[in-house]
Amino acid sequence: MTSLTIRRPDDWHLHLRDGAMLEAVTAESARDFARAIIMPNLVPPVVTGADARAYRQRILAAPGAANFTPLMTLYLTEATGADDVAAAHAEGLVHAVKLYPAGATTNSASGVRDFDKVQPVLERMAEIGLPLCVHGEVTDHSVDIFDREAVFIDRVLDPLRRRNPTLRVVMEHVTTAEGATYAREGGEGLAATITAHHLIINRNHILAGGIRPHYYCLPVAKRETHRLALVEAATSGSRSFFLGTDSAPHVDPLKEAACGCAGCFTAPVALACLAHVFEEAGALDRLEAFASLNGPDFYGMAPNAEQITLEKSAAPVPYPAKLETGEGPVTVFDPGFPLHWRVAR
Ligand code: DOR
Ligand code: ZN
Repeated sequence: MTSLTIRRPDDWHLHLRDGAMLEAVTAESARDFARAIIMPNLVPPVVTGADARAYRQRILAAPGAANFTPLMTLYLTEATGADDVAAAHAEGLVHAVKLYPAGATTNSASGVRDFDKVQPVLERMAEIGLPLCVHGEVTDHSVDIFDREAVFIDRVLDPLRRRNPTLRVVMEHVTTAEGATYAREGGEGLAATITAHHLIINRNHILAGGIRPHYYCLPVAKRETHRLALVEAATSGSRSFFLGTDSAPHVDPLKEAACGCAGCFTAPVALACLAHVFEEAGALDRLEAFASLNGPDFYGMAPNAEQITLEKSAAPVPYPAKLETGEGPVTVFDPGFPLHWRVAR
């Protein structure tokens, strides 16, 4: 058996939802991750400090959350007030603000259309060192969905960063070689999260030989050359890249539908998938940097003191295919190959 002991990882991009779904999925992340940046795209979204405080309490009350620290975020709207953001940060509640371009993805209708309207908030965030987490896709219907990330960098992100040069920015779930290159070259105030699933699937997994809705997420997986660029970035050890699973549960009837929701539920298998990818790349010695060190470093936090051990067994590990929730079954991400890694308990 091969084993690898690393600092306990964190998840720098996670959807826990609310209600019965929150009750069911929280333990799936808390089992392996000490902390997670919690996405605010609830219905209605987590917009104010008061919203985040209440949501944090609901997360902490969920089964399995005892040793889990949710790091809350606020959903940036054109009405967000700089003072409320600064106060929520000062009390230690809020660790980032999330920018969704309006219409880009699940529950993003309250997102930003006119960036002039959010400029005062961005200026205050730069002053106080509060990071902006960016969903980097343009929403312009004339732009091909596979190009929306690269176009976003040119049209929106780069101008935004030039206007706010001291703002700390996380490019969330990058899916392209262009995204990885931009993040790598952006200096210490810029970083990118990468999901486990974008290291494994390309667009053929979604579309070739039948449509597979459980591989559909946003930003959508791109062609193989981009997947390879992401693997190179994640396994490079560069401080510009760290894990954000974007584990995003939707019940099966909402995925397996004429207009299915975007999101891959990876929490139960994310670390096993990562260990597989890093081992294949000959980079197991850099998994700790990606999963446990670079994220806290960017966010100005200490890495977790606790360690975990990943073990590789000769026989495949029987991960469950579905998680039953009070809202219905949620399909667990299937990497398409047997997983041999598990976290030792
Ligand atoms: O695939 C995705 N699912 N991408 C997102 O940006 C949102 C997420 C969700 O909330 O389901
Ligand atoms: Zn997300």
